[in-house]
Amino acid sequence: MSIRVRFMVLIGVLSLLATLGISVASYKFSVNNAMTEARDKGKLVFNFLESARLHFKKVQRPRILELAGPGQRVPVELKSGFALTRGVWEEFEKKVPDYAFKQATPSPLNPANKADSDDMKIINIFRSNPDLQSTEGLITRKGEPYYYFAHPIHVGQSCLRCHGDPARAPGWLKKQYGSKEGYNWKAGQVASAYVVYVPLKKPLQQARKSAVNLVLIGMACILVFMLVIWFFFSRYIIKPVTMLEKRATEISLGKNLGEPIRTPSQDEIGSLARSVDRLRISVEKLLQRLRS
Ligand code: HEC
Repeated sequence: MSIRVRFMVLIGVLSLLATLGISVASYKFSVNNAMTEARDKGKLVFNFLESARLHFKKVQRPRILELAGPGQRVPVELKSGFALTRGVWEEFEKKVPDYAFKQATPSPLNPANKADSDDMKIINIFRSNPDLQSTEGLITRKGEPYYYFAHPIHVGQSCLRCHGDPARAPGWLKKQYGSKEGYNWKAGQVASAYVVYVPLKKPLQQARKSAVNLVLIGMACILVFMLVIWFFFSRYIIKPVTMLEKRATEISLGKNLGEPIRTPSQDEIGSLARSVDRLRISVEKLLQRLRS
């Protein structure tokens, strides 16, 4: 293998490894960024919903009940904070369709809140760690990656008036929601979890795309780089070395001794050329002396 090819292979392999390394690092970096961003967005959406519910609970609901007067039937939309968050989310979802929010409940009054198998994984985390106040992480939901952010909803004694034994639940509740699901919750139990799912598909695709682009741009740069090195090698090393090799062979055969070797440059090849030229002059003189 010629020096040029060996050198090119070495440079090619090293540059390729460097490009791949940079691309992998950039991919990891983008994925990390996507996670942090998803986490922040999830938290924001979550806190906003929770604040809407708290405002309803603290300010609006007492006023509504007061205005309705004691013993009056108040529609559930004006009474339940959970109905409020579900309603707010239904509007939000129209504007930002790839996000998801669940008041994920294994046994809900409203079937829209029914926990699916992905939600159940999160509820089970809370059920096996009763002191956990929130959890978050990566999850695959319907085959797509999401970052989730979740809070548990614990059952208090007051909740059992509606969510306890269905036989003792208010008539209007059973009339509206049936008496199968949403009951027999136990005080202290995690009945449900608020979960916000932030989609990660697009940012992950974007991270993959930029890593691939980086590899392609890197390879194009390597190609240009190698062409420049190839040209440099041919012009400044291979061409003069081949010329010197030819002249040295000629000197050894006593040919073209009168023709000086032009020094191509001031570098190591230049000094080699000067040495070969001195050799030519010496051989020429020696031969002249021998002939006379
Ligand atoms: C006055 C009756 C009543 C009481 C008391 C009550 N809830 Fe509910 N709850 C409802 C109704 C009605 C819904 C369904 C709202 C809807 O349609 O979205 C509901 C929905 C929920 C949901 C959403 C899942 C589902 O069942 O649809 C959760 C979680 C929940 N309640 C938790 C609680 C907790 C925790 C308490 C106690 C702090 C409580 N509830 C007290 C009536 C009640």
